[in-house]
Amino acid sequence: MENMVLSREKRGAAVDWKKYRALFPHTFSPAEPALIAPYRESNGNNHAGLAGAFGPKLAEINAPSPAMVYLNHAALGPMHSEAIAAIERHNRERSCGNIEFWPDLVEVKRSFKNLLGRFINAAPEYLALTDSTSMGLNWLAQGLEWKPGERILLNDFEFPSNVYPFLNLQRRGVEIDFVKQRDGRIELEDIAAMIRPQTRLLSISFVEFLNGFRNDLKEIGRLCRENNVIFCVDGIQGLGALHLDVQESGIDFLVSGGQKWLMWPLGTAFMYISPRIFEQVHPMAAGWLSVEDSWEFFKYELKFLPTAERFEPGNYNAAGVAGAGASLEMFLEIGSRAIEQRILYITAYLIERLQENGYRIYTPLEPESRSGIVTFHHSNAPALFEHLKSRRVHVSLRNGFIRVSPHFYNNEDDIDCLMELLLGFDRD
Ligand SMILES: Cc1ncc(COP(=O)(O)O)c(C=O)c1O
Repeated sequence: MENMVLSREKRGAAVDWKKYRALFPHTFSPAEPALIAPYRESNGNNHAGLAGAFGPKLAEINAPSPAMVYLNHAALGPMHSEAIAAIERHNRERSCGNIEFWPDLVEVKRSFKNLLGRFINAAPEYLALTDSTSMGLNWLAQGLEWKPGERILLNDFEFPSNVYPFLNLQRRGVEIDFVKQRDGRIELEDIAAMIRPQTRLLSISFVEFLNGFRNDLKEIGRLCRENNVIFCVDGIQGLGALHLDVQESGIDFLVSGGQKWLMWPLGTAFMYISPRIFEQVHPMAAGWLSVEDSWEFFKYELKFLPTAERFEPGNYNAAGVAGAGASLEMFLEIGSRAIEQRILYITAYLIERLQENGYRIYTPLEPESRSGIVTFHHSNAPALFEHLKSRRVHVSLRNGFIRVSPHFYNNEDDIDCLMELLLGFDRD
């Protein structure tokens, strides 16, 4: 086990994880009476303390909700206290203060894109807001000019969001190829073998949703470059959990919703369109804000903005982006490498505990393939899932597997709580 996963010592020691855990008081403190006591002691789940730190309003937001242990970030992530507060502040100001606030709207977006650019190592001019991963993938699929006979390379292990936008091009004569997964892995050699002269685009997830298999983006990026294939990445199951640098990985198009590991509000997502393909992606939709001189209402000249803002046809979800920005500030403060290390440690702890109790893990365990997701087999997964849910321990039931996805603020106590309930279920 020591060789397979990070050692306990590598738990991101330089970071004060308790401080960050305190920003998510709404997501832990189990309902099981026997399990409450250790939580109260070890986690300092202290709402009065939070009031002191962040003001009375936050204490209200963070008032103890019905107790739970949240280990389901691959489905949806909670927002942290300051993100919730940023949204509240934004909505209050827009309703009770500066209602018509165009310059502020511009500023909220500008500062958000600056943060995001730092986070993934992209120039802000190549970043566009959108509302979901699915929509972002459609901006790419519909934006490229396609000739009949051109091919797109996918794999048969993807979440459907990363398949349907491309199947939707079949009516234009585009052909779709699927790399077959093997034991929950998408092998590089299989990808290489399926690239043909007509392959124009490859789209793949950073991390596969079902078992957390982490694709080797650098190597796939290299393959794409060598074959002049556009490299598109659905980042949603990796970004926020794992470090990503779009330059290093040679990504041409990255899209991610923020509602999972990034812990942004629902309806916030972004796209990165690299300089390499920027001119090839025609905006599939146009609106008053996608053009130059947008305040000259009767000019009617469809001259797209020179930046990725051309992919934002109208007003945007500014309250959501205010919340997403507050979340990004936290991620940047901690650092994506430290978060990755922490998540790999917590998931390693879970893997260890599952293995020592004889559970069969579906997630590939090679260190370079791991992520924030650990999926395991259980002969009675639906009933186990209901058992955990009724005790407010949140995981996912996916394709007959139990999928556990802790974030950096989770700790060993959360995993122990899950294990205790799991073992109890199998004992009884
Ligand atoms: C890999 C992957 N892509 C896309 C999505 C859907 O994203 P959205 O709802 O932002 O389109 C999910 C999960 O919901 C996912 O796991």
